[in-house]
Amino acid sequence: MEPTITPVDASFGAAVTDIDLANLDEAGWAFVEAAFIDYAMLVFPGQDLTSEAQTAFGRRFGAIEALVPGMDIPSVPLSNRKADGSVLAPDEHLFQTLRGNEGWHTDSSYMPLASKVALLSAQVVPPEGGETEWADMRAAWDALDTDQQDEIAGLSACHSLYHSQAEAGYVIETGAGYGYHDKGAPLRPLVKTHPVTGRKSLFIGRHAYSIPGMSEDASRKLLSGLLDVACQPPRIHTHRWQPGDIVVWDNRCLLHRARPYDVSQPRVMRATRIAGDPATELATTGPDKRASGFVPSAANS
Ligand code: OGA
Ligand code: MN
Repeated sequence: MEPTITPVDASFGAAVTDIDLANLDEAGWAFVEAAFIDYAMLVFPGQDLTSEAQTAFGRRFGAIEALVPGMDIPSVPLSNRKADGSVLAPDEHLFQTLRGNEGWHTDSSYMPLASKVALLSAQVVPPEGGETEWADMRAAWDALDTDQQDEIAGLSACHSLYHSQAEAGYVIETGAGYGYHDKGAPLRPLVKTHPVTGRKSLFIGRHAYSIPGMSEDASRKLLSGLLDVACQPPRIHTHRWQPGDIVVWDNRCLLHRARPYDVSQPRVMRATRIAGDPATELATTGPDKRASGFVPSAANS
C-alpha cells in the first residue's frame, strides 16, 4: 500500500491516508520522515492509535520530552475532565493550562531545551469549536520585507510560562513546577534556522516577551505586531478533529493554538512532545524575570 498525500490549503501541511501508523515498516517511516520535512505538519485521519502506539510513533522523531517530570508517562492525556468525570474548575492549574493553549505558541520554548516535534491525537471532541490551528513561521519570515528582516535579525526574546499565563489572566506563583523557570528565563533568537531544511522562520508566540536592549513596551509592540501579521492566511490551517485523528507538527517552524469551545463539553486529546536537539534547541539563559518588567528581588524571589 502506497500512502497518499494531499496538501492542505495553506503554505504548509498535508493529510496522509492509506497508511497504518501502528504497523509502520521502514519504507513507511521513510515516507513519513520525508513528508514531515516537506510539509512541517501531517494529519493522519482515523488512525485510532493506542497510547503505546502513539508513543512508539513519536519515538521515531526523537526522544520523548517528559511532560510529567520524574514519571514515565510519555503520552499525556489532555482532558478538561477529571478522573471522576467532573469538569475542571477555572481556578485549577490544568484548566488554566488548557486555556493558555488557546494562544499562539510553540511547545516548551519556556524550557531550556525547546521541543522540536509534537503529536496530538483526538479521543473525544466537542460538537463545536475545539479545533487546533497551526501557523507557518517560515512563510511569515519570507513575507517580511528586507528592512523588517534586518530590524529583527539580531534580536532575542525571553520565553516564560509565568509571562504567558499572566497575559492570559492567570497569575502563577513562583515554584509552580514543570515549565516555570527558577533562574534566568530562556533567551532565544527571534529568527530560527531550521536544522534540517536551513530555512529561516520567526520564533515567536505567547511565551516570548522582553527583548534585551529594548523597553518592555517596545518589546511588546514588536512581538505582538509580528504575531498578528504572521498568523494570517495563507499561513494558517485549522483542523477540525474527528476522534482517532493524529497530527504531527514541527515546533521549530510552526506555531499552534487550540480554538475555544464550550468547556462544559468534554474534550480529550493525547499529547506526545519530542525533545529538541541540544545543538539547535537549547536556549541561553536570559535575565531573571518572570514576566515583562518583573525582576525578582531578595524580598520577592
Ligand atoms: C499542546 C497544545 C492544542 C490543542 O498539546 O501542546 O497546544 O488543540 N494543544 O489541544
Ligand atoms: Mn502546545
